[in-house]
Amino acid sequence: MKQPLFTATTITGLTLLIALNLQQPITAAEMSLSVPLELEKPAYAVPWKRYTNSRWKQTDWKEFSNLRYKRSSPIAKFQKFETPGNPENGKKLIDDRQHGGSCLACHVFPNASLPGNIGPDLSMVGLWGRSDEHLFNYIYDPRQFNPNTVMPPWGKHKLFTKDEIKDIVAYLKTLTKASDFKTPDDNPANRPRPIETRDNLDPFENPGMFTVELGEELFTTSGPTGKSCQDCHTDEKAFSTWATTMPKFETRLNKIIGIEEFVTRHARATTGADYLAESEENLGLATYLRYLANGQIIAIDDSDEKTQAAIKRGKALAKRKIGQLNFACMDCHVKNANKWIRGQYLVKPLGMYDHFPTYRTSRGEIWDIRKRFQWCNVSARANELPPSAPEYGDLEIYLATLNNGRILSVPGIRH
Ligand code: HEC
Ligand code: HEC
Ligand code: HEC
Repeated sequence: MKQPLFTATTITGLTLLIALNLQQPITAAEMSLSVPLELEKPAYAVPWKRYTNSRWKQTDWKEFSNLRYKRSSPIAKFQKFETPGNPENGKKLIDDRQHGGSCLACHVFPNASLPGNIGPDLSMVGLWGRSDEHLFNYIYDPRQFNPNTVMPPWGKHKLFTKDEIKDIVAYLKTLTKASDFKTPDDNPANRPRPIETRDNLDPFENPGMFTVELGEELFTTSGPTGKSCQDCHTDEKAFSTWATTMPKFETRLNKIIGIEEFVTRHARATTGADYLAESEENLGLATYLRYLANGQIIAIDDSDEKTQAAIKRGKALAKRKIGQLNFACMDCHVKNANKWIRGQYLVKPLGMYDHFPTYRTSRGEIWDIRKRFQWCNVSARANELPPSAPEYGDLEIYLATLNNGRILSVPGIRH
C-alpha cells in the first residue's frame, strides 16, 4: 500500500512545482520572491491626505479626469455672442491666478510680468481681425477649433463664467501694440534658462544632504524586532548598483514598486519599523539607498512582458488629459518642453529622473518622485493619487526607462 501513496505525493509535488513555475515566471526584471516584504497594509498614511506639511489647497476636483478615472468632458457647441463686456474687468481676469494660473501662464500680454510662451503673443490680438464671437468661443472651449489644444476649456470647465469671458473678449479687442517688457527677463524669448550649477553633493550647498545622513543613521538603528538593516546587510557595497535597477515589477503586489514603497514594506518585514511614504524616515532611507549607487548609470531591465506592459500603460497615462485645466504630462514636458509656463521653465523627460529625491529650494523640502507627480497632478487641477498608486508606478517606470543610461546623482537640488 505504501508504494502508490509515495508516487501520488511525488506527482502532486511535481505538479505543484510546475504549476508555480507556470504562474509566476520571475525574470531578472522583476523583484525576487525571496526579498522579505510586508504585503497587506497600504504603504502610506490612511486616509491619504493631500500635502502633509505643505501649503497646497485642498480643493476636490472629482468631476474631472485624473490618472485613475476618466470623466467625460464633451466639447462645447459654438455659441452666439451678444453684448460685449467690460474691458477693465477683463484686464484683471487675464492675470488672476485664482483662475488656474490664467492667460499669462501661456501668453504674452502688454506689460506682463514673467508671462509664459506656450501660446502666441496676444499683445496685438485686437488687430488680428478675429470676431468677438470667435474669441468668445475660443476661450470658452478651444477644443472646438483644435481638439488637441493645450489651452484649457475655460468656460466649459467652469474656470470663468460667460460674463467673465465676455469681459476678457472686450479687453482683447483693445490690444493693438507690441508689448514693452519692463525688464529683459519678462520677455520669455530672452529669459535665461535655469541652469543648475550648485554642487548637489555638497552639504553646504544642498540641504538635501541631511536626508542622506538621516538615512545612514536609520540604516544602523534597530527597529521593534531588535534588528537593524545593517544586521542583515553588513556591507553597504552590496547596494552599489541596486538603486539603478528600480522601480521594478513586484509579482506579489502585481504592480511596479519604487524604492520608497520598497523601504516601507521591507522594513516592516525585517526591522519592524513603519516608515510610511513621504515621511522623513522613508525619504531618508530611500535617498540613502540611491546615494549608495551615485555615479552609476540608470539601468532598468525592461526585458519582460510585465515591465513592458507597465511602460506602455505609463506612456498612455502621460498622454491622458486630466483635471479642470485639461493638461496631459506630455503637453507640458514634451509638446512645450523648453518653453515657459509663467516663470517656470518646462523640462524634457530626459534628465527628469536621475536626481530624485530632490531638494526644492522654493519649498524648503526634499521631494521624492511620487510627490513630484502629485504636485503636477494638482497643477492641472486633478486629484492626485496616494504615493504608491499603481498608476504612478507605471508612470515612474516609463520615465525611468526614458532615463536609462543617465548617471544617478542623488539628492538633487532644484528651484
Ligand atoms: C496652457 C496654455 C494656455 C493658456 C493658459 C491659455 N492659452 Fe490661449 N492659446 C494657447 C495655445 C497653445 C494657443 C494656440 C492655438 C491652439 O493651440 O489652440 C492659444 C491661442 C489663443 C488665442 C488665439 C485664437 C485664434 O483665433 O488664433 C487666443 C485669443 C487665446 N489663446 C486666448 C487666451 C485667453 C484669453 C486665455 C486665458 C483665459 C488663454 N488663452 C490661456 C495656450 C494657452
Ligand atoms: C532580517 C534580515 C534583514 C533586515 C533587518 C533587512 N533586510 Fe534587506 N534583505 C534581506 C533579505 C533576505 C533580502 C533578499 C536577499 C536576496 O534575495 O538575495 C534583502 C534584500 C534587500 C535589498 C535588495 C532588494 C532586491 O531587490 O534584491 C535591499 C535594498 C535591502 N534589503 C535593504 C534593506 C534596508 C534599507 C533595511 C533596513 C530598513 C533592510 N534591508 C533590513 C534581509 C534583511
Ligand atoms: C501645466 C504644465 C505641467 C504639466 C501638465 C505637468 N507638469 Fe511636471 N512640471 C511642470 C513644471 C513647471 C515643473 C517644474 C520645472 C522646474 O523645476 O523647473 C515640472 C516638473 C516635473 C518633474 C521634475 C523635473 C525635474 O527635473 O526636477 C517631474 C518628474 C514631472 N514634472 C512629471 C510630470 C508628470 C508625470 C506629469 C503628468 C502627470 C506632469 N509632470 C505634468 C509642469 C507640468
